[in-house]
Amino acid sequence: MLGRDLNTQKNVYLDASGSRAVLVCGKRGSGKSYTLGVLIEELVAVGGRNVIPIVVDPMGIYHTMVKRNERQSSELFRWGLTAQGLRVRLLIPGIPEELYDPDILDELRRRGVEYTCLRLNPADLTPDGWCDLFDADVNKPMGIVLFRAVQNLSEEQGFFTVHDIARSVEKDKRAQDTSKEALLNRLEGAARWHLFSEESYQPLDSIFEPGVVNVIDVSRLESGPQGRRNLIVSVVGRNLFRARSDARLREEFGLAAELPRVWLALDEAHQFAPSSGNSLGKQQLIRWAKEGRQPGLSLVVATQQPSAIDREILSQCDVILSHKLTTRDDVMALNSLSQDYMGSELRNYITGLERVGQAVLVDDERESVSVMQIRPRQSQHGGGTVASDAQNDYDIWQQ
Ligand SMILES: Nc1ncnc2c1ncn2[C@@H]1O[C@H](COP(=O)(O)OP(=O)(O)O)[C@@H](O)[C@H]1O
Ligand SMILES: [Mg+2]
Repeated sequence: MLGRDLNTQKNVYLDASGSRAVLVCGKRGSGKSYTLGVLIEELVAVGGRNVIPIVVDPMGIYHTMVKRNERQSSELFRWGLTAQGLRVRLLIPGIPEELYDPDILDELRRRGVEYTCLRLNPADLTPDGWCDLFDADVNKPMGIVLFRAVQNLSEEQGFFTVHDIARSVEKDKRAQDTSKEALLNRLEGAARWHLFSEESYQPLDSIFEPGVVNVIDVSRLESGPQGRRNLIVSVVGRNLFRARSDARLREEFGLAAELPRVWLALDEAHQFAPSSGNSLGKQQLIRWAKEGRQPGLSLVVATQQPSAIDREILSQCDVILSHKLTTRDDVMALNSLSQDYMGSELRNYITGLERVGQAVLVDDERESVSVMQIRPRQSQHGGGTVASDAQNDYDIWQQ
């Protein structure tokens, strides 16, 4: 249950048995991240071991889901719900001890958050992807050399390391010394991120676990279209797509599949699929939105700026959960997703929203629109202001 319809007072549900593409939007402080948390709680409760929920967390706030939501216990009681913490698996890209101070790691452990390193496999980034990562034009000397090195290694061996790429660049007889040197510097830099696996291929089922909240904490990494946050989305997205396509094929033959269906949720998603310009993660996310249905991949993108999200992804969303929006560009971007069955344009529903946690739910599958109150969280919401501050914030925009 996601919440309650404000007109009929009936519970509002979202069918998550198939693949969905969901847009969660709303102005700052309107309740997007909170709502994303509700969605994840529901996925864990209903999907159990048959679903892998993953959150890409640019703000480092979702680990709090391990705790019970004590702050809103009376509100939960009114809704007939109880406070409940969930199992959280915190995936830290890089070396946790380098990214966090020891007190924070202690505290995470004390709270019962299971944290582990997330290691990418260099082979999971395409030759083009490697060039993008280093901002190397594939038609210029440096890009040509890098492309060749990664392509050769991919053809020769399933697994290779960043050092293998460096060795291959060094041995390249056709490359000029200057491009070699520039590349070797960058590869050395990449090795120092400790983001790529140096020993063996890290299989997906050892990284993500079904029925628990898998949080990829990218908050300590730099953003930007070619930054490490995007790198992770690109590699993980591509990997999961391939693994689920294989699993789907097995399922069709009635064979057991190793990887259950996946829900990938991205908070602050405009960082990963910007409407203008490219980013490392964007192509994968477009692919998830357009072709994810068949392999059983669902995508949730949350943003305060729907106008800043790639148009193709927006148009593929079959569920919209919009909180209050005020900026004209954003209202219009959302409004352009209005459908005939809505009875009125989307912007008319949005302007009627009054409180934090209220949202318009548009469900293409049911061809329905409801104005609703999102239910209180059972697990603790991280970050953000206390409820009264958020309400003040809200009142300010209304003036
Ligand atoms: N459905 C809700 N019920 C009660 N409080 C909510 C609800 N949604 C949001 N809030 C409150 O509003 C604050 C801001 O919400 P948040 O989801 O962090 O905003 P944002 O849209 O910026 O992601 C939260 O700290 C929370 O206290
Ligand atoms: Mg937020």
